[in-house]
Amino acid sequence: MKDKTQTTERVDALLAKMSIEEKVAQLNQIGGADWNNGPKPEEVIRKSGAGSVLWLNDTKRFNELQKIAIEESPSGIPILFALDVIHGYRTIFPVPLGMAASWDPNVAEKAQTVAAKEARAAGIHWTFGPMLDIARDARWGRIVEGAGEDPNLGSAMAAAQVRGFQGADEIDTEHVLACAKHFAGYGAADGGRDYDPVFLSEAQLRNVYFPPFKAAVDAGVGTFMSAYMDLNNVPASGNRWLLKDVLRDEWGFEGFVISDAFGVANLAVQGFAKDRKDATLRSLQAGQHMDMASSAYLENLAELVQDGLLSVEEIDEMVRPILETKVRMGLFEKPYVDEGLLEKVIALPEHREAARMAAQRSMVLLRNEGSLLPLSKTQKKVAVIGPLADSMTATEGSWMVFGHQPAAVTVLEGIRNKLPEAEIVYAPGPEIRRDIPHPFGEFDTIARKPVQTPEEAEAAFQTAVKAAQEADVVIAVMGETQDMAGEFASRGSLDLPGRQEELLKAVDALGKPIVLVLLGGRPLSINWAAEHVPAILEAWEPGTEGGNAVADILFGDVNPGGKLPVTFPRSGNHAPLYYARTLTHMPEDHERYLSRYWDGPTTPLYPFGYGLSYTNFEIKNLKLSASEIKVGETLTVTAEVSNTGNHAGDEVVQLYIHQKWGSDSRPLRELKGFERISIQAGETKQVSFQLGPDELRYWSTSAQGWIQDVAEFDVWVGSDSQATLHAGFEVVA
Ligand code: GLC
Repeated sequence: MKDKTQTTERVDALLAKMSIEEKVAQLNQIGGADWNNGPKPEEVIRKSGAGSVLWLNDTKRFNELQKIAIEESPSGIPILFALDVIHGYRTIFPVPLGMAASWDPNVAEKAQTVAAKEARAAGIHWTFGPMLDIARDARWGRIVEGAGEDPNLGSAMAAAQVRGFQGADEIDTEHVLACAKHFAGYGAADGGRDYDPVFLSEAQLRNVYFPPFKAAVDAGVGTFMSAYMDLNNVPASGNRWLLKDVLRDEWGFEGFVISDAFGVANLAVQGFAKDRKDATLRSLQAGQHMDMASSAYLENLAELVQDGLLSVEEIDEMVRPILETKVRMGLFEKPYVDEGLLEKVIALPEHREAARMAAQRSMVLLRNEGSLLPLSKTQKKVAVIGPLADSMTATEGSWMVFGHQPAAVTVLEGIRNKLPEAEIVYAPGPEIRRDIPHPFGEFDTIARKPVQTPEEAEAAFQTAVKAAQEADVVIAVMGETQDMAGEFASRGSLDLPGRQEELLKAVDALGKPIVLVLLGGRPLSINWAAEHVPAILEAWEPGTEGGNAVADILFGDVNPGGKLPVTFPRSGNHAPLYYARTLTHMPEDHERYLSRYWDGPTTPLYPFGYGLSYTNFEIKNLKLSASEIKVGETLTVTAEVSNTGNHAGDEVVQLYIHQKWGSDSRPLRELKGFERISIQAGETKQVSFQLGPDELRYWSTSAQGWIQDVAEFDVWVGSDSQATLHAGFEVVA
């Protein structure tokens, strides 16, 4: 890290000679795409410079615009080029929900390290990631972009991704500035409807939705992005409590905050601000440093200063962290990118190796009746069916960078690579597509096929059934297409779209061994399959090497060890559904409890933390270092894990607690520790966890503050959130 005072002095000197127009220009991020109907980037930059440019993915053009900023703008301040690099730039890794399913922070760190190296080589300085929104409603399309429903797992993934993107303290030329988004509470949109309002108590914010963001601050994240939606009727973009009181005054964040796209001007659209000028004033005073693409700051800030509604000092306070970031990233010394570098970087074999490893570790074995899996490699005839079996886009998943050409190894190709001698018959069956086209569809880089007619769909259906009929084993690759999850991609149902389940049933009736491979960015209510399809592998959207990783698992070269980072509900109507809820007066172990609904069970189809293996693990000998500790003290929890099967494999050992009473009602279970460990067949290993004030305190509604209660606790250690291996301890005064 460049010496702090040296940076401060340098920024002071810059500010001293900048006009108000130049200072305001640093608070502006220009929409660099040609569809963005703002002023042309060159004109704006030449006139007063620019804080940043986004929605551009063109190395040559980066250098062109940078040259204008350095040589033609009044103060020659370099530009930060920004883009959404969420799970890979050219080498695509599993979507973040998949990476979270690995329960291995090293997977996320490695993935974002590679993504940063490729993005920086392309000339991108700043990524709008990691996305840290806790999501407990699977209908919300952006659940794909985060780490799921739990703050403990989410915090571990947050810190790991910041380390991966930014590297160590210094953001060198192989790393990028990261951005913790969307601050805060976006995943709790009413009904899972993207952009809808959010109403969260301070306890829910502080105990559930904030922790991953705080973990990002503690890991040194350089920027934050405020969320679009109204949070308790105050849009995040104009929410001083969020952006100043919590983020800066409590957490000590010293970087800068950017709005989401057009978020400043949107304050008028949301009925919060009177007009663009009012939006500008209230957004800046709330602590939002940079305006993404709306140009409201550019148009109004200088006038607001002239009107005496804002002071130059307030403007300087917002410009300062932006300039400090540019100084510390060395942009003044090295503003340009070598235009030949990217091709060398993306050719590195270790990038695809890392992507394949990440995909392998992200996948979750949901069912394996009769140990159908792993399949033998001596299969003679394999039918690969389903609309996603050969879909590169469904394999790579949401949030591809602008201009990305799909290049993933599909499941079909992965199986062909694995079984070069076998006869592999591919039959997609009826296509699936959104009922309402995606509004971003215009940015697709591949032409969409014409809509299949009912006759064509029926013919495809029969062809797939016939292929299954003639095969020794059937592998069905089903789920959701790339645009069925992500932004603008919420849905009311969690069922398999289209005629996929119908095709599964038809194939199941043939009595053939069938494996279901799920691709997609959210939990799906595969109730029928969960009862009838013997083997089910959740592969999420596994990225460039996804098809090879699926084949590695299906044919036994890799033993799956992933666990669910989100609860799988039996229906979209049950959402939001999550494990860490309070007991209520009718706990689910109550003698009269049957279900919260009269029209079916409310239990999850698959619980948080669940995942199977080709081997078996036994977790035993749970021990606590003490049965009683004082407030503020720490106890150690240990247990043994044995691999009692005949395959080496990974187990994710999970620690849950329940505070049995207190100032507030507390969740019936809370994840407070986890470790993914590799264990050879027959081997036993020990795991240990700490339970201290950090794990036991919480923000209390009744106390209106952080407290650690004197109370009794349950402890469970096991392989998912329904673990039964139990012990207890007491916290005393
Ligand atoms: C989008 C998303 C945000 C993204 C930004 C820039 O609307 O909400 O996650 O980083 O705009 O593309």
